[in-house]
Amino acid sequence: MPLFPDYIIQEVADKNDIYDVISKTVRLKKAGSSYIGLCPFHNEKTPSFSVSPRRGIFKCFGCGEGGDVIRFVMKSEGLSFFDAVTKLADSANISLPKVSGYNKEEEEKKKEHNNLIYQINKEAASFFYSSIKNSNEAIAYFKKRQLDSQTVKMFWLGFAPNSWTSLFEHLKQMGYTEGDIFDAGLIKRHESGRYYDTFRNRIMFPIFDSKKNIIGFGGRVMDDSKPKYLNSQDSPIFSKSRNLYGLNIALCSKKEFCILSEGYMDTIALIKSGHDNTVATLGTALTSQQAKLLSNYFKEVVICYDSDKAGRIATLRAITVLREENIKISILDLKAEKDPDEYIKTYGKARFDAALSARKTDMVYLMDYFGENYDLKKSDDVISYIADVTAYLKLVKSSVETDVYVGMLSEKTGVGKDAILSQIGIKKDEAPKLSSLADAEVINVVNKSGLPADNKEYLNKTRSLLLGTLFYDRKLYERFSSKLDVAMFERSVHKTIFEFIKSSYEKGEKLSNTTLLNSFETEDDIQEACGILALDIQSEDNIKAVNDYINEINAKAGPEMALELLRQNKITLEEFNRIINNKG
Ligand code: GTP
Ligand code: MN
Repeated sequence: MPLFPDYIIQEVADKNDIYDVISKTVRLKKAGSSYIGLCPFHNEKTPSFSVSPRRGIFKCFGCGEGGDVIRFVMKSEGLSFFDAVTKLADSANISLPKVSGYNKEEEEKKKEHNNLIYQINKEAASFFYSSIKNSNEAIAYFKKRQLDSQTVKMFWLGFAPNSWTSLFEHLKQMGYTEGDIFDAGLIKRHESGRYYDTFRNRIMFPIFDSKKNIIGFGGRVMDDSKPKYLNSQDSPIFSKSRNLYGLNIALCSKKEFCILSEGYMDTIALIKSGHDNTVATLGTALTSQQAKLLSNYFKEVVICYDSDKAGRIATLRAITVLREENIKISILDLKAEKDPDEYIKTYGKARFDAALSARKTDMVYLMDYFGENYDLKKSDDVISYIADVTAYLKLVKSSVETDVYVGMLSEKTGVGKDAILSQIGIKKDEAPKLSSLADAEVINVVNKSGLPADNKEYLNKTRSLLLGTLFYDRKLYERFSSKLDVAMFERSVHKTIFEFIKSSYEKGEKLSNTTLLNSFETEDDIQEACGILALDIQSEDNIKAVNDYINEINAKAGPEMALELLRQNKITLEEFNRIINNKG
C-alpha cells in the first residue's frame, strides 16, 4: 500500500495529465468532454475505452478496467503502486520524500532477488518432475495414490531423489550460486560448511502464490517415517500463514464459494473431481490473514476437514477465525472417519457432491456436533450443551441470525429464548424485536409490501448517478448538503464515496480521486468506484438532476431502508408495515 503521504500522491496524479499519459500509447478521439479509444487491456474492434481528463479517470465499458493515472501506469506497464508513483514523479520533476525504511535501490534489488528465487524454485520443480521417471519407488507411489500423469503435470508434482546433493549439483550447473539456492531454502548448511539438499527421497508439492510463482515446497515421505511432510521454511517470499495451497487455481474458478481442506492431497483430489475452488492451509491452523484472503475472493467458505477428532477440533478453530470476517461459513461433514481424499476415492464423486449440497451452516453444524455428547433429557446435560453452543453463538454478529439460531436452540432444549440470549450476553430489553420472524418470513413481508424486485438495482443506479454528479462539484454539494445523508446509501462503496465527498468538502480540501481509490481494499471496490467516478454526466441542468436524484432516492428508498432497519431490529414489524403502507 501507499508509502507516500496522500498529498504527494495527489500531486503526482495532478501533474501527470491522464490524457497526456494515456495518449502516448492509445489513440484517443474526442467525444464530448471525454475521449474514447480502443482498450489496451482487452481485445476489441469498436472503442469502449473512455478517458475523462476533467475527472482524471479512465474506464473501459467493455472489460471493466478503470482507474486514475497511477493505476493506468501500473496496469499498462505491470508496475507496483510504488514504482508507478516513482515513475510519474520523475516525469513531472517532483522529488519524492525519502520514505523511512524504504530505499528504492534496495527495494529494486530485493525484487530482483525474489524473482531469482522464483526462478530457482521453478527450476527445482522441473528437476523434481523429471526425477520421477528415475525412481520406481516414486512411480509406484504416484500410482498408489492415484496421481496420474495429467494430475502430476497440473500440480507440477515431482520427486526429490534419495541423494544428498543431486538438486544442489543440478542448480549449480544451471549457474545459480550457493547463496541464492540457500535463500530459496532448497539446501541446508552442515557444520562442516558443506551444503546438502533440504528435500530428499520425498514426493514434492510445489506451492504457488496467487500470481503463480512457486514460493515454496511441501515434501512427503513415501512410507510411514517422520516427519510425514516437510515444508519450506518461511522466508521473505514464503509465508505459511499468508498463502493457501490451490489458491492460484481457485482464483480462476470464478465460483462464489470455496472449499477449505487441510491437506495437499485433499486439495488435489477435490480439484481433480471438478471442485477447482478448493484450497488448503499449509500445515498450520487457519490464520486470520488466510481468512481475510478468502473473504476478499469468495462469499462462502465450506470447511471440509478430516472427520477425525483433530479435524473436528480444527473445524471449531476455523469457524472462530472465519467468523471475524464478513463471509458465510458452512461445514461439509464427511462423517466417515476419512479425509476428503480418501472419501472421494472410497465413495466416489457423486456421494461427495451430495454431502457438499447437504452442507450445514456453521451454527447448525455446531448444534448437532455438541449435541452428540449429551442426553438432552437430562437437565445437567442441557446446561452444558447450551454453554457449549452459546460460546459460539456469541461470535454471530447479525441479530437476525442470532435470533434464528437461538430459536432453534430453544426448541431443541426447551429452554426459553430469553435465558439463552442472556447467556450470550444480550439483555432481554435489547433482544431482537423480530422475535419469531425468520429469514423466510422477512422475504415474505417484502413480497407482500409490493416493492418491485428491481427497486434495489434502480435505486443503486440513481445513487451512483448522484455521487458521480456531486464528485468534483463543490458548489453543487454545498447547495444540497443539508438534504444529503449517508443513510441514503446502502452499498459500502457508495457510503465510502459519500463520506469522502462530505469530509473533503467540509475540511475544505480538494477532492482527490487518487486518495479515494487508495482507500479501497479490494480491486472489485476500486472498479466499482471508478465506474461511478467515470459517470461524467453532461446534464443541461445539474442542479435539477441532483434534485431529481435525491427525491427519487428518498421516495423509493423508504421501504428499502425500512426493511434494512427491520433486519437490524431497529424497528418492529408493526412499524415496518406502517411505513410500507403509508407509501402505498
Ligand atoms: P496424506 O497423508 O498424504 O493423504 O496427506 P494429508 O494431506 O491427508 O495429510 P494429513 O491430513 O496428515 O495432514 C494435513 C496437512 O498437514 C498436510 O497436507 C501438510 O500440509 C500438513 N502436515 C501433515 N503432517 C505434517 C508434518 O509431519 N509436518 C508438517 N510440517 N506438516 C505436516
Ligand atoms: Mn490424506
